[in-house]
Amino acid sequence: MTPEAVAIVEVGLRDGLQNEKQSVSPEMRADWFNALSHAGLRRIEAGSFVSPKWVPQMSGTDEVLRRIERKEGLEVEVLVPNAKGLELALASDVDTLSIFTAASETFNQRNINCTIAESIDRFRDVVAGGRAAGKRIRAYVSCVVGCPYEGRIAPEQVAAVVEQLLELGSDEISLGDTIGVARPREIHALLAAVLPLCPAPKLALHCHDTRGTAVANVYAALERDIRIFDSAVAGLGGCPYAKGASGNVATEDLLYLFQGEGFRTGVDLDAVADLGDRICRHLQRENPSKAGKALVLTRKQ
Ligand code: HMG
Ligand code: MG
Repeated sequence: MTPEAVAIVEVGLRDGLQNEKQSVSPEMRADWFNALSHAGLRRIEAGSFVSPKWVPQMSGTDEVLRRIERKEGLEVEVLVPNAKGLELALASDVDTLSIFTAASETFNQRNINCTIAESIDRFRDVVAGGRAAGKRIRAYVSCVVGCPYEGRIAPEQVAAVVEQLLELGSDEISLGDTIGVARPREIHALLAAVLPLCPAPKLALHCHDTRGTAVANVYAALERDIRIFDSAVAGLGGCPYAKGASGNVATEDLLYLFQGEGFRTGVDLDAVADLGDRICRHLQRENPSKAGKALVLTRKQ
C-alpha cells in the first residue's frame, strides 16, 4: 500500500528570516529557496509583500522571486496584507497569496494595524484580485490558542474568524500557534471547534516551538486527519509583533516524525538537515532542530 502523503509548507525564509536581527540578502535567500526545492519541498514561502518600515527583513522579496528556479509542481507562496501587497505580488511570479489576521484583536492591531473586522474587509479586494489572476488563497489565523497580550483564546473565537475567511473564498486556512503555548489537548479542542466549519483537507497547522510542544501538537492534529503542516528549516522563526515567540517547529523534526509514522513527504531529510546546518552557521545561531543536529553530528562521527 502506498503510504499516505503529508504536505509541508516551508516557512523559514519568511517566518524565520522576518525575525532575525540581521537581514539576509535576496541572493542568499534565493539560494536557500533553491536548496529547499532541490530537497523535495513543493510548497515554499519566498517572503512577504509587507511594509518595509514594519518588517525590513522581507525587503527584496521581489528580487528573491526573480532569482529562484521554477520547477514543475513547485508552489511559490508569499504573504500579502493589503491592496498594495497584492499589486506588488501580482507583478511577481507567485502561485499562492497568503492573507493574515488573528483571533486576538490586540495582536492584530500590533501586527497589521487594524481590527479583525477591518482586516477581513481589506481582504475582500485582495482575495477577489488574487482569484481573478488565478492565484491560490491561503489565510492565516494567528493566536489560535494564546495571545501575548490577551492570554488564552477560546476555540470559538478562532472558529468565528475561520468562518469569515472561508466566506471570502480562501482555499486553505492555516491555524497559527504564534507564541507556541499550545498542548495536544488544546489542539484537539481547537480542531473540534474548527473542523465542522472547515474540512481537514483545507486546514493546516502552523506551530511555533517556544515550549517544546510543537511536535506533540502536530501528532495531535494528525490524529484529527490534518495533513498540511507549516515548518521552518532549522526551526527558524518567530514574529516581530509577538514578544517571546521563538522559531517555527523545525522541518527536520517534522520529517523525522512523519518518516517514523509511515507518512510520505517526498522530501530528503538529509538534504534539509545539511541546509539547516549551513543556514545556522551563516546566521551564527544555534540549531534548535534536535533531529537536524543529531543527523549532522552522526554523519560527522
Ligand atoms: P500601516 O502603517 O497601517 O499602512 O501598516 P498604511 O496603509 O497606512 O501605509 C503606510 C506606509 O506603508 C505607506 O508608505 C504605504 O505605501 C506603505 P509611505 O507613504 O509612508 O512611504 N505600505 C506598504 N509598502 C509595501 N508593501 C505593502 C504596504 N502597505 C503599505 N503591502 C501594514 C499596515 C499592513 C502595511 C503593516 O502593518 C505591515 O506591513 N505589517 C506586516 C507585519 C508582518 O509582516 N508581520 C509578520 C507576518 S504575520 C506572522 O508572522 C504570523 C504567521 O506566521 C502565523 C502565526 O505564527 O501565527 C503568519
Ligand atoms: Mg508564524
